[in-house]
Amino acid sequence: MRDAAPSKIFLHDYQPFGYFVDSVHLTFDLSPNATRVTTRMAIRPNPAGDPAFFLHGENLNLISATIDGTPVTPVITAEGLSCHVPSHDFIWETVVEIDPANNTALEGLYMSNGMYCTQCEPEGFRKITFFPDRPDVMSIFTVRINGDLPVLLSNGNKVSTGPGHAEWHDPWRKPAYLFALVAGDLVNHPGRFTTKSGRDVELNVWVRQGDEDKCAFAMEALEKSMKWDEDVYGREYDLDIFNIVAVDDFNMGAMENKGLNVFNSSAVLASPETATDLNFERIEAIIAHEYFHNWTGNRITCRDWFQLCLKEGLTVFRDSQFTADMRSAPVKRIGDVIDLRARQFREDAGPLAHAVRPESYEEINNFYTATVYEKGAEVIGMLKRLVGDDAYAKAVDLYFERHDGQACTIEDWLKVFEDSTGRDLTQFKRWYSQAGTPHLTVDENWDGSTYTLTFGQTTRPTDASPDPQPQVIPIEVGLLGPNGSELQGSTLLEMTEATQSFTFEDIQSKPVASILRGFSAPVVLKRDVPREERVFLLTHDTDPFNRWESARSLARQILVEGALTGDPLDGDLAEGLRAVLRDDSLDPAYRAMMLALPSESEIASAIHDRGNVPDPTAIWTASEALKDQIARLAESELLSLHDQMQVTAPYRPDAEQSGRRALGNAALRLLNRRDGGMRARAQYASADNMTLQLSALSCMLALGNGVSELADFYDQWQGERLVLDKWFGIQVMEGDPWTAVPIAERLTHHPDFNWQNPNRFRAVMGALAANHAGFHAADGSGYKLLADWLIKLDAKNPQTAARMCAAFQSWRHYDDSRQAHARAELERIAATPDLSRDMREMVGRMLA
Ligand code: TRP
Ligand code: ZN
Repeated sequence: MRDAAPSKIFLHDYQPFGYFVDSVHLTFDLSPNATRVTTRMAIRPNPAGDPAFFLHGENLNLISATIDGTPVTPVITAEGLSCHVPSHDFIWETVVEIDPANNTALEGLYMSNGMYCTQCEPEGFRKITFFPDRPDVMSIFTVRINGDLPVLLSNGNKVSTGPGHAEWHDPWRKPAYLFALVAGDLVNHPGRFTTKSGRDVELNVWVRQGDEDKCAFAMEALEKSMKWDEDVYGREYDLDIFNIVAVDDFNMGAMENKGLNVFNSSAVLASPETATDLNFERIEAIIAHEYFHNWTGNRITCRDWFQLCLKEGLTVFRDSQFTADMRSAPVKRIGDVIDLRARQFREDAGPLAHAVRPESYEEINNFYTATVYEKGAEVIGMLKRLVGDDAYAKAVDLYFERHDGQACTIEDWLKVFEDSTGRDLTQFKRWYSQAGTPHLTVDENWDGSTYTLTFGQTTRPTDASPDPQPQVIPIEVGLLGPNGSELQGSTLLEMTEATQSFTFEDIQSKPVASILRGFSAPVVLKRDVPREERVFLLTHDTDPFNRWESARSLARQILVEGALTGDPLDGDLAEGLRAVLRDDSLDPAYRAMMLALPSESEIASAIHDRGNVPDPTAIWTASEALKDQIARLAESELLSLHDQMQVTAPYRPDAEQSGRRALGNAALRLLNRRDGGMRARAQYASADNMTLQLSALSCMLALGNGVSELADFYDQWQGERLVLDKWFGIQVMEGDPWTAVPIAERLTHHPDFNWQNPNRFRAVMGALAANHAGFHAADGSGYKLLADWLIKLDAKNPQTAARMCAAFQSWRHYDDSRQAHARAELERIAATPDLSRDMREMVGRMLA
């Protein structure tokens, strides 16, 4: 059965549930097409809630229902069950039957390669049994699993196991979305951790046979995360066992189920031969993220799904602090900002704009967004900057102390900061309630001794926030003298008005201002800076973020002008970069980031921001020309770097080695334009790790070469599904834009294109959407191909289809002809019979 008619859920309609569920006993009798789930709950009326007894439930076959042992006949709809119940405590019991083998949505209990697994966040538990499936209903779970599979896992501690059964008990109250069950023929990579108070914890990474050799890195990352959370946040693990399971068919990266984290295989499995340095770094970050949820998400959870950023923003913030500590803080910051601009600013600039804490939704799955996650983390970073590190630590301690075991709101979170610092956060709260990215203008004036900076802020009105008000913007500023010395070290300005001036006294020479150091607020800084000033900052800024930013904004300016006018480029950027490349005191990873140019879609949105219409082909052409120019002017530096950055020590995926490989590969990509692919071919032939092998192959494809290497790569790796995903993806990503659609189309006929596997689907369709000029092909063929496949996927897996549908979100920024093509495809999707609620909401918002 398909979803019922769309209806909006509103934050202001929140009401507590009318009952407490003190305990739940679940018994699973596993069978691929007919799993029986017996649910026994101890229920107690909650006088503060609505006495109507309604339990969520979808696609469940009810076998029996009893109250205190007496059969009852509930009323069942597509959404759940209602029943007359006593006004005193009672025991509710149901038996339902479900069909995990035919669950293609990968939500609830489903099967992947013969293994049973679950995904319940946000509303998947209702596909397992009838239950108040809302995060503010917390209960103690005991789970009995009957099934003839060797490994039977659930949350909490193991009570008993024997052939064909296992029982688990979780002593911590939790909402149903944190429930998990895994059953299969799995092997474990074991580990141990002793917590700071002496609890001995058994750790396991569970994988399919054959993947044992790809678990060691994930286990190390877990041990580091556990230690870091103790050292930095004072948070200790609270069970005797912590299990991680890798699953091939998974909609997202990973899930923080209590004591039983379930991961997309791509977010756990790694070996030097099969995974790139970036894969390793992502695995470390996701392992940390899910582990950190044990406190920020599980011990303290969300009252309702509007509060999603309470756990996600904070946990992303915590995992980025972790990565900054494990690796390079400036490099991590720059990477995060690139990602924020590419995904969150783009969201804020289009029809999908919403607040970090939205006020309404149709389908909550559509709100696991860059705004909730990444902007949510930025908001916490701003708060920390405003109150200072010590006050932040005190407030967070108070949060854990005051709210442990509760389901909370953003108000609770802000209140601990108000109570512990005495600050009024009323205006700051707009960061949670107001959609859109503030645009910041700057005027400067120097009168011979007083230097004045005047800022203006404006935010585009959106459907979500039609009348935006000024926000609190922390602006970190430094002033540099003519010789590059700091006239004024970093200072935090707190902007609260629509326009506001700040003065600096006794400034004896005209300074160059370094504004928004460390990217101290998620805003667009609109500033017409003479190119010489950007080049000056590119060589002299003492703030590593802003030094990178000056190269970035110089490149952006050059590319925007190049795309709009087709004019030849000047060599300012290349000259500035040469000095950076020669500077051996700079971290190689940092230099690699300096070399990377803004993406074509970033240029498209910069052009749109200026009120012009971006032409994807012209942007691609300008970007190619700039790369050619840098390759030509910096050739000697690039040549020596590519040699110097060779790593001779055994492969390690740490910051030091991966920084060297990143810079070596960045140099290779540019040199590739000069040497006809000679170095890339040599690197491909000698590579003994995936980072070098894949980048060499990408370079060859970028030149239209590499046909035999591509075939060779396939033969070498056809047994490694995660590597095959890369093989699919790079063919669509690399090469000239007009080849992207035909190649993607051809790959959909490949026997290994298992489109129902989200990783494989994303490898091809995600790469298509990410190839800017390819996806926006003038004839609309990119839009059409993606729409065809989204329609097909939606019937099987609405969640992944709807997420990928966001590829269309910027469609109104392009020319009339492209808009007409995109609109036609969106309307075709909208007109598809039985379209999911997920997709209907997304397409509806984009067409509105
Ligand atoms: N809470 C998970 C995370 O940290 C993400 C998540 C939400 C998810 N819904 C999901 C994962 C559905 C897989 C499938 O970040
Ligand atoms: Zn999360």
